[in-house]
Amino acid sequence: MIPGVPGDSQVYLNGEFLRLDEAKVSVLDRGFIFGDGIYEVVPVYNGNAFRMAEHLDRLDRSLAALRIASPLDRAGWIDLVAELIARGGMPTCLIYLQVTRGVYKRDHAFPPEPVAPTVFGMASAWSPPSAEQRARGISAIGIPDERWLHCEIKSVSLLGNVLARQQAVDAHVDEVVQFRDGYLTEGSSSNIWVVSQGKLLAPPKNNLILEGIRYGLLGELAAEAGIPFEARRITREEVERADELLVTSATKEVLPILSLDGKPVGSGKPGPVYAQLRAGYDARIAAL
Ligand code: PDD
Repeated sequence: MIPGVPGDSQVYLNGEFLRLDEAKVSVLDRGFIFGDGIYEVVPVYNGNAFRMAEHLDRLDRSLAALRIASPLDRAGWIDLVAELIARGGMPTCLIYLQVTRGVYKRDHAFPPEPVAPTVFGMASAWSPPSAEQRARGISAIGIPDERWLHCEIKSVSLLGNVLARQQAVDAHVDEVVQFRDGYLTEGSSSNIWVVSQGKLLAPPKNNLILEGIRYGLLGELAAEAGIPFEARRITREEVERADELLVTSATKEVLPILSLDGKPVGSGKPGPVYAQLRAGYDARIAAL
């Protein structure tokens, strides 16, 4: 029995589908021993994976960064995701994919001979943010970013993110806003956006943040709505003085941050730039 999940749900592990409570990985798997692996989280609406091509592009980039050859080709990943959706029986859900370097005698260096990567996939229950959550927005605290310098890799080595997220839980808020050397980076598991004088700002795409799939999407939606967008370094002061703050991720979609460090952000209500981007996001889901 695994707390919080139905043990009889069908998951994929290394070429076969089996019950979640029967899926087992070796204790010497390098994902378990070293966090030596990568993952993806793909939202699915009415049976359709959202921004699938972009998620698979990022999966390939993450694998390349770890020098792991992709265990499946593009068609193979697409088939796997389709099969997970079909077997899961949940038209709206999250697909989780993970690849690790596989199983070998414990040694930090890569195995000197070819090893089959461990490939895992599952569909998880998920509800997109409700109208009430959209109106309520989310609360956050600012914290120092203490993670490593390869945040662009969607690695399962998530200890820094886990500790950051727990700080939010301990402070009774929803998310953290991280700063490195006084500049905005991202949330514990989300990208953060600033609206200032009608302009949408995001930190530059570099090794200090994960390029969310919604990072590219929000840029497109801003262009369509005629909202000027700039990617540049953003100071903590700019974040604290923002007219609006937004958060994006596969699970949060796009939501307004309405309180930061206990103080209201802007008017304390969802703002006009959020409303426009939200409408664009909803239209993209509807067009799937
Ligand atoms: N997290 N930054 C970090 C550190 C993240 O973990 C995530 C996503 C994002 C947003 O990326 P995307 O728009 O592709 O979801 C940014 C996922 C949802 C997770 O770990 O569950």
